Amino acid sequence: MEFEFKSLGSLRGELKVPADKSISHRAVILGSLAKGESVVHNISWGEDVKSTIRCMQQLGAEIVQDKEVTRIRGKGFDGLSEPKDVLNCGNSGTTMRLLAGVAAARPFLTVLTGDESLRRRPMARVVEPLSMMGAIICGRENSRLAPLVIRGGELRGIEYHLKVASAQVKSAILLAALDAEGETIIRENIISRDHTERMLLEMGANLERDQNEIRLRGPCELDGREWRVPGDISSAAFWLVAAAIVPGSEVLVRDVGVNPTRSGVLTVLKNMGAEIRLENYRTVGGEPVADILVKHSGLQPVEIGGSIIPSLIDEIPILAIAMAMASGTSAVSDAGELRTKESDRIAMIVSILNRMGVEAAETPDGFIVHGQGKIPGNCRLSAGGDHRIAMASAVSGLAAEMPVTVEDFNCVGISYPTFLQDLRHLTE
Ligand code: S3P
Repeated sequence: MEFEFKSLGSLRGELKVPADKSISHRAVILGSLAKGESVVHNISWGEDVKSTIRCMQQLGAEIVQDKEVTRIRGKGFDGLSEPKDVLNCGNSGTTMRLLAGVAAARPFLTVLTGDESLRRRPMARVVEPLSMMGAIICGRENSRLAPLVIRGGELRGIEYHLKVASAQVKSAILLAALDAEGETIIRENIISRDHTERMLLEMGANLERDQNEIRLRGPCELDGREWRVPGDISSAAFWLVAAAIVPGSEVLVRDVGVNPTRSGVLTVLKNMGAEIRLENYRTVGGEPVADILVKHSGLQPVEIGGSIIPSLIDEIPILAIAMAMASGTSAVSDAGELRTKESDRIAMIVSILNRMGVEAAETPDGFIVHGQGKIPGNCRLSAGGDHRIAMASAVSGLAAEMPVTVEDFNCVGISYPTFLQDLRHLTE
């Protein structure tokens, strides 16, 4: 379905964004592996988390949802059983990679597949460590691509140094390690999002962390828990940038997860000169949460690269729009991982910016934006089925001189089904 986005005046008011997608996936999976009931308040209603719930149910997990809470009757690893059909992870890389870790530890056959985008995304990064632990995994193109066929079994702990900064790979290994014999040691050069580690500690796992090293001694039992999922900073980022670039705006996003492994977008926007303030900072279920207030302000160009990249990897599409609205040259480097997301986000970002009349160019591991403090707009573009590209394009239209039409806007349902309602709320 196509939508036209144009200047609607300033954005003003308060809102809550959808629940954190990463934490929601993990609450469903860990709750199913625990012993006893887990209750999840405010789970994400996006398509990706629905994929995880459906796949876990096919694996035998008892998950009951009503509007307010999701209840999971966990029966431990042994409570799972061989699925009668293939598991369809839809568009969700997190579902596929985390479930590969779960399936690797089970003595039965699991087949994981996904949509066209997911079947193009790299899977060797999970196949390699899980095979080292003792699982038998095959996939297309020499086990680099899904569908993945997994015959799990008796696993042993491994020592593994992550080759890419990926929380999905780290989490897949940790999930398998829960049911493996002996210690698993994971080292990462840059600390990727650490929700799995935080949640495992809350659930009583034998896990220790020391800077870049994580140790988990298996097999270990998890206790069921009550979770309250905070708002997703990756969804909040669209309004943070929108309010920063549209004159006269002032927006308060309530109850946002501000885990330091996720909040690089705040650092970068502040460095660009955005007026952002965190209020009501607190800890909920082991995760830092705050309300974020942002006001319109002129933005400066910025260069980002190195260790901050994993903490804002999903926010780079919307940061590119902020860069277009800054006067001067901005650059992103060390972000080659963007090419392996729901789309090749480096190519997509540069292509949508160019269509909007903003000068930008690809580099192998990032891109350069020659911002002129304005976005001409007056274009029609496809988001390539990528939810974050679609929402970044929508926000560009709010600040552009002429409208921006996004052809396949319905893909925002992956993470933010209520995006248009929230836009209406802030612009009415
Ligand atoms: C996620 C980790 C990130 C992120 C993705 C969600 C997670 O991917 O891009 O949207 O929930 O673990 P990688 O771990 O592959 O970098």
